[in-house]
Amino acid sequence: MTRLSVNINKVALLRNSRGGNLPDLVQVARDCEDFGAEGITVHPRPDQRHVRFADIPALRSVVTTEFNIEGNPTPDFLELVLANPPHQCTLVPDATDQLTSDHGWDTRRHAGFLQEVTARLKAKNIRVSLFVDPDPRMVEGAKVVGADRVELYTGPYAHDFFKDPARAVAPYSEAAQAANALGIGLNAGHDLNLDNLRYFQEHCPGLLEVSIGHALISDALYYGLANVIRMYKRQMASKRAE
Ligand code: PXP
Repeated sequence: MTRLSVNINKVALLRNSRGGNLPDLVQVARDCEDFGAEGITVHPRPDQRHVRFADIPALRSVVTTEFNIEGNPTPDFLELVLANPPHQCTLVPDATDQLTSDHGWDTRRHAGFLQEVTARLKAKNIRVSLFVDPDPRMVEGAKVVGADRVELYTGPYAHDFFKDPARAVAPYSEAAQAANALGIGLNAGHDLNLDNLRYFQEHCPGLLEVSIGHALISDALYYGLANVIRMYKRQMASKRAE
């Protein structure tokens, strides 16, 4: 079974654009779980434009499914994660000012650093996942440094899916098989959506979790708009009738 972890960064982005607490991130996390999400993912970036470091304690205290914190393991990030231990921490090699994650770790070149960080997190009973490109050598490197899982970066898959789905998914199937053979858990994320998700899952055996943010929150807007416009119009109609 593949679990769906909802990345709520985009909800925080909307909240931050006005400076208040609308939408309420903690309530959104609770509601996502009530509506069936099997995990909540946050990616507190150094510039705090999405989920902020200060949001983490409250989120951690309300999430009852799986709380997954993603990010680059800078000293600040590690301090935050160790002080508020989530169920899972996904380490991502993104730059400070990066728009979004766009590549995985070179788990062989950064083996020493990753091994040290992984051990610190695991000492706190935090499951560690490493964000990697779909390359069996990187999956093997993740196993060597002691990670529990890898998260395959699915951006290129999503990009090429409409052109040639079989070709787009092939490296991911191979990486998934490598993960299964090595006994390391398999997650995936980035640009997954209602069009490409099922095909990906069907071709990646042993997929434990997907984390989805941008498309899922966009779909929530589109699929929710008709209802909300009706609600606003109803308010004005009832005013006229008074
Ligand atoms: N995984 C990682 C490591 C990410 O950085 C992101 C984006 O924050 C995601 C998954 C989710 O990607 P998307 O928002 O495109 O669904």
